[in-house]
Amino acid sequence: MSHSVTYTKDGDIGIIAVNNPPVNALSHHVRQGLLESFTEANNDDTIATVLICGGRTFIAGADITEFGKPLRPPDFLETMGIIESLSKPAVAAIHGTALGGGLETALCCHYRVAVPSARVGLPEVTLGLLPGGGGTQRLPRLIGPEAALAAIISGTPMKADQAHAVGVIDQIVAEANLLEGAKAFARQLVAEGAKLNKVRDLNDKVTGVDLAIFDAARKQANKTRRGFEAPQRCIDCVEAACTLPFDEGLAKEQALFRQVLTSNQSASQLHIFFAERAAAKVNDMPKDTETLGIKKVGIIGAGTMGGGIAMNFVNAGMPVTILETSQEFLDKGLTVVRGNYERSAKRGRFTAEQVEQRMGLVTSTLDYAGLGDVDLIVEAVFENMDVKKEVFAKLDTVTKPECILATNTSTLDVDEIASVTKRPDKVIGTHFFSPANVMRLLEIVRGAKTSFETLATTQAVAKAIQKVGVVVGVCDGFVGNRMLHQYGAQAQYLLEEGCLPQDVDGAVYELGFAMGPMAMGDLAGLDVGWRIRQGKDLPASLPEGARYNAIADRVCELGRYGQKTGAGYYRYEQGDRTPHPDPAIEELIINYSKEKGIERRTISREEIVERLMCALINEGAKILEAGIAQRASDIDVIYVYGYGFPAYLGGPMFYADTVGLKKVYERVCFLAEQDPASWQPAPLLKKLAEEGRTFH
Ligand SMILES: NC(=O)c1ccc[n+]([C@@H]2O[C@H](COP(=O)([O-])OP(=O)(O)OC[C@H]3O[C@@H](n4cnc5c(N)ncnc54)[C@H](O)[C@@H]3O)[C@@H](O)[C@H]2O)c1
Repeated sequence: MSHSVTYTKDGDIGIIAVNNPPVNALSHHVRQGLLESFTEANNDDTIATVLICGGRTFIAGADITEFGKPLRPPDFLETMGIIESLSKPAVAAIHGTALGGGLETALCCHYRVAVPSARVGLPEVTLGLLPGGGGTQRLPRLIGPEAALAAIISGTPMKADQAHAVGVIDQIVAEANLLEGAKAFARQLVAEGAKLNKVRDLNDKVTGVDLAIFDAARKQANKTRRGFEAPQRCIDCVEAACTLPFDEGLAKEQALFRQVLTSNQSASQLHIFFAERAAAKVNDMPKDTETLGIKKVGIIGAGTMGGGIAMNFVNAGMPVTILETSQEFLDKGLTVVRGNYERSAKRGRFTAEQVEQRMGLVTSTLDYAGLGDVDLIVEAVFENMDVKKEVFAKLDTVTKPECILATNTSTLDVDEIASVTKRPDKVIGTHFFSPANVMRLLEIVRGAKTSFETLATTQAVAKAIQKVGVVVGVCDGFVGNRMLHQYGAQAQYLLEEGCLPQDVDGAVYELGFAMGPMAMGDLAGLDVGWRIRQGKDLPASLPEGARYNAIADRVCELGRYGQKTGAGYYRYEQGDRTPHPDPAIEELIINYSKEKGIERRTISREEIVERLMCALINEGAKILEAGIAQRASDIDVIYVYGYGFPAYLGGPMFYADTVGLKKVYERVCFLAEQDPASWQPAPLLKKLAEEGRTFH
């Protein structure tokens, strides 16, 4: 008998209780215990059975540690079959979350009750999977195919009241009284002679369905989840629920489940799932490191980043004070913040009153004295070392000694900034990504003197504002932008060798990125990089023989800074962000190649992708070797959450492992032979390739 599932009789009701901490995952011993307990319940004199879980949640899902291993019996469907065929009413009593296999188990019970705080859902799609325990066949039968499609394709859990409204939950019971409520509900069912509501037999909602809804769903998923296999297979399954008898639909679900389970996409998405959790660990940080309480935040600079950063804290309920150099800039920054909130309110995300509540948490000031009571500062002034140093020196004198001073610099040396303060242990980098209120990634830059307390507190802050924080070391561009620099350089060289912007972008888009490097440049503003290059006196300051491509400079010289000027690598129609190829740019690029004496050639999509991916991977390996990233999977998290790398490829380093490091290394060596000025194979890549190993 399994110890994680017990069966007891409470008068005339049988109680099956699951206790498999921490989240009552559906491990093999739980499946075994359920099978045995429901068999026992079937054979005794009780009038109904309640399935309930101990601890903080109902069965929260499958046991993901069992993924990829041979399945230990009993299999899921066998257990489900026993539950559903119980000869008396089975009531699932839900608290916490009933997700994936948890909800599928509950759907095999004849009825479901839940406490108001419970949530239910089928989130398998977020791991590149589909619900493989009958969920795609039972949910449409219970709530109709359209509601089921919405739930299964998004993977978003429903709150109890929502689940009650659509019919997943039959009754909401008092929060503190789940067991009693479930028993009373079961007795009432028996007293009323209610039938055994076997979901597999409910055919009304899946009969006579207009199959056009599935084509529409496929098209929609192709737009919102472009390139992802699992949403498409989920749709196939729900369609099967409407066109096939239950058992045949279930067989189809099983076949498609096996297909997605063994796909590279689910392996990649599962990798990202675990990578995100691993990223929270700082290898050398003592377990008992204390964190400081952060209640009030100061933001320096109300520009593009400062405003967005402030919104993160406000959204988490933390008051912020924003400091600027002039009232005009303050007003301008706050108008943008208000505008963002009002747009969200218009879309129904929150009420006009909530806009005011949020704006009420923002104080603005021109005076450093206004920052005396904040616990954390995030500086987002111009990217200039002298300006940053001046700001930090001032902050050091006006803020509380325990206040953490964070910089949002994207390239500057955090240690040099820290050197002007008397508290370098409290200085850290918080590198947000634009738009800062939307992008999930936060690179947490650990300086040479940053204390564990500061680091742990910043990680906690990242969590509180719902960012995925990844700790990185100090270097030019940290992890993300340092790799992007190599990627961008290759994209430029491809232009002079034979590509047009749309060729490069098209190849990357097809791979699964939201946009290619040229369209990204147009979106971010080409003038930013141009000014940096001018500041570094490029190309004059480059060493002899170094490769330099001036196409981006030439584009900027025409006043084409990207979307903001209506033209960059592409041209844009007024008020529209769609990039249109532009003959003027084609001419500029072709002339540039001619001027450099380069004979343009046709470059295949494969070569474009290979060059760009090798650039990311080779630099990623150097970053890893230098200890700037703690682990390869951190780099993957950075690229998926901050740079639009397709999650179904698992990030650049995981993608490299999938391709095979031997092959990647050979290609990097080949590229280095062709163009030694821009390629130096990473020693770590060489070592791993030669040893037949992987990054992970
Ligand atoms: N824009 C991006 O995509 C992005 C992404 C990540 C990081 N960053 C970094 O964020 C920082 C800010 O970038 P941004 O794009 O928001 O720039 P921005 O020019 O839009 O805003 C900077 C703001 O800082 C104010 N400012 C300048 N000096 C100041 C001072 N001494 N005291 C107070 N305010 C001052 C300016 O008035 C301006 O409003 C930079 O370090 C940048 O590298 C930018």
